[in-house]
Amino acid sequence: MKRVFSGVKPTGHLTLGNYLGALRQWAEVDQHRADSLFCVVDLHALTVDHDPARVRRLSRQAATLLLASGLDPQLCTVFVQSHVDEHARLSYLLECVATDGEMRRMIQYKEKAARERERGGSVRLSLLTYPVLMAADILAYATHEVPVGDDQAQHVELARDLAVRFNQRYGHTFVVPKATLPTVAARVMNLQEPASKMGKSDDFGPGIVYLLDEPDVVRKKMMRAVTDSGREVVYDRVGRPGVANLLEILAACTGGDPAALGAGYSSYGALKKDAADAVVAVLEPLQARHRELCADPGYVERVLRDGAGKARHMARPVVDRAYRAIGLLPPL
Ligand code: TYM
Repeated sequence: MKRVFSGVKPTGHLTLGNYLGALRQWAEVDQHRADSLFCVVDLHALTVDHDPARVRRLSRQAATLLLASGLDPQLCTVFVQSHVDEHARLSYLLECVATDGEMRRMIQYKEKAARERERGGSVRLSLLTYPVLMAADILAYATHEVPVGDDQAQHVELARDLAVRFNQRYGHTFVVPKATLPTVAARVMNLQEPASKMGKSDDFGPGIVYLLDEPDVVRKKMMRAVTDSGREVVYDRVGRPGVANLLEILAACTGGDPAALGAGYSSYGALKKDAADAVVAVLEPLQARHRELCADPGYVERVLRDGAGKARHMARPVVDRAYRAIGLLPPL
């Protein structure tokens, strides 16, 4: 059976982009077809200026939202990264096969480091080595497929490169993973800034739909989405990014095709209204389940404890093998 691994970082409240680009695939497809693990990658949240209490709160919230999105602990493993030491253990070994040049070429590093510097802050070393830890997350589980949104494809490519390089140098140790992207909504854009991704830790708040936004807030944000001065509803990601984004969101929520859906509208207003209704319809059951789960925090804790146990059990032999292969003495 195929092994699937993916994760979400608790650096902000989860967004519609996270759901349509990743979580929905995990719940509707991956957990049913593969031996899959889904992780709240809390160590990754420490790579930028952070507030410890907030990271703790957001980690719990992210885990609860994974379950509210439909992940079923009977079908898949849900856990928190820092509960399984193997991620950090393997990350160091992979730092010994990765190069600093490779790290500096990562698009997200360049963007995030520039943003930190603009704010007058310093760049944490862990921001540079972030993709190595992410490669460790993936390789520790002998993962075949990594379902992610478009923005993570370069990082998964690096995990592939490191797996191949390690195997060539030290003997076959790792499965070589590949990214799987959704066909629509692989990159949901910010509603106010359709040239930028809808990211959870962005500055463009009014353009971000959060999974826990109330229906009237979702509707307001969708109706105020930036489009352009044209009138025709056509699907053109380059020329009409705002309209294309709304069509993708509508298509992802209703199961249609963005270009075909576009042909059915003669005004932006009608498209916005239907897209808003579709998003509200997708979020309502998720929010209801979230409320139920919040009323039973003991259940979420049990899921995470059991999940970490299962994950440890899967990762340890792979990471131990890597320790032997690279030349470290077995513990005496
Ligand atoms: P993160 O937390 O930024 O996002 C979680 C998932 O949501 C996807 N995503 C989007 N998809 C479409 N449109 C958007 N606007 C959008 N925003 C986010 C992301 O592509 C991702 O799939 N580095 C990762 C977390 C990570 C990870 C891993 C993922 C750490 N280790 C190992 C896979 C495997 C991240 O920051 O995702």
